[in-house]
Amino acid sequence: MLVLVVFSVVMRNITSFVCQECGYDSPQWLGKCPECGTWNSLREISNIKYQISNRRSEKRELNLTPKTLEEISSTERQRLSTGFSEMDGVLGGGLVAGSVILLAGDPGIGKSTLLLQVGFIIAGSTLGEPHVTGNVLYISGEESVEQIKLRALRITASQKQKEQFKLLSINDIDAVVKVVEKTKPSLLIVDSIQTMESSAVGGMAGSIAQIRYATSLLTRAAKTLSIPTILVGHVTKEGMVAGPMILSHMVDAVLFFEGEKATNTRILRSFKNRFGPVDEVGIFSMEEKGIKEVKNPQHFLREYSNKTSGSVLASTLEGSRAFLVEIQGLVVSSKLPIPRRVASGIDVKRLELLLAVLQKHASLPLATLDVFVNVAGGLRLTDRGTDLAICLSLFSSLKNISLLGTVAIGEVGLLGELRTVPYLEKRIKEAKKLGFKHIISYNAYKTLNEAIKSLGK
Ligand code: TYD
Ligand code: MG
Repeated sequence: MLVLVVFSVVMRNITSFVCQECGYDSPQWLGKCPECGTWNSLREISNIKYQISNRRSEKRELNLTPKTLEEISSTERQRLSTGFSEMDGVLGGGLVAGSVILLAGDPGIGKSTLLLQVGFIIAGSTLGEPHVTGNVLYISGEESVEQIKLRALRITASQKQKEQFKLLSINDIDAVVKVVEKTKPSLLIVDSIQTMESSAVGGMAGSIAQIRYATSLLTRAAKTLSIPTILVGHVTKEGMVAGPMILSHMVDAVLFFEGEKATNTRILRSFKNRFGPVDEVGIFSMEEKGIKEVKNPQHFLREYSNKTSGSVLASTLEGSRAFLVEIQGLVVSSKLPIPRRVASGIDVKRLELLLAVLQKHASLPLATLDVFVNVAGGLRLTDRGTDLAICLSLFSSLKNISLLGTVAIGEVGLLGELRTVPYLEKRIKEAKKLGFKHIISYNAYKTLNEAIKSLGK
């Protein structure tokens, strides 16, 4: 008991100084941040006000007894389904009680829409017990409740779901915690963590100190009350944002929601996950009436049919699954002194490298031609196993040969050699399953030149 008293006193007196630039945490004030070198950037974060409830203390007491492996029961933690099997898969089977998940992504990509739908599903579910109905609390620091309602009108929800789904537009994080303690929701959504602020901390909403403070309060509330909590974090154009990524060590999982905005394909990836795999992806599509999950393996081939030259299929890995995607290449004479190289869906530097290899090792005269490559369907490919398909699509366009139904799998090396790729058999199997029999891969050819020659010219 004495230990517990000491513990709670210590918890109340935590003061730290946090760098506003990089989030470095120090127990004392320093003039210069040792992490990023910025002067005068450390701000004091006042005592964390959130008190540990008695329930938490009891749990702590139990946790003080070490157990042998045999004493630990191996039953899976109970998980709450999000209603999307694609999202459950990424989470490792659903939401774990008391876990905190950061959902990061570009503004406008569909994070709020996805969470609104997940919220409705959990609001209407029985949570595994017949007489219990889930209640969901959606905290919005970004939009007014009226704005959210407008969006929600596009999404179908039953009366029961609507009744159990509560919205609150607020920025004061200390007040949010009070509401959470009072209402004890089955799921808490905070949209977004960058808009939460507390008067106990210096700096504006969105500053590192504010984001960290808000996250630590919410994490504590989530763990104490066993409430699964999803925090939304915007990622800026610069990429890994000052805000959300600093949180990655404070939360249990970091998921990224991404996709090319011009297309409707959206991919959910896990970047970190304490309760599940990190290589799983969920595939969604943004429709007029909300987000739908994509289960059809031919999703990326919806518009694949024409016999024109310049199109080759690639079999790419997303997480542990193989997908067929269409690579479109276009090669035309250039009017410019430096011909254009335009890539959408692949890195333009990789395109330049492949063009150099095609020129040197397959003797394709591409130096004075404009080259365009596009990945149909809105997927962004970083998988080197799609190199061969990119090369063959350019060859097909240059020579005006239709390669309809051809699937190419392989990495292309600088010496013009073909290399095998991870899960080659799985990729081939997926292509065969969808009825494509003409497969060009490392299995049959060892160089790019051999693969091109096999196509007839
Ligand atoms: P939103 O969820 O607000 O994005 P985020 O929270 O990541 O900033 O999504 C906004 C976009 O989604 C907006 O351009 C409209 C579009 N949208 C649809 O296409 N279908 C829908 O059913 C809804 C609600 C939004
Ligand atoms: Mg939003």
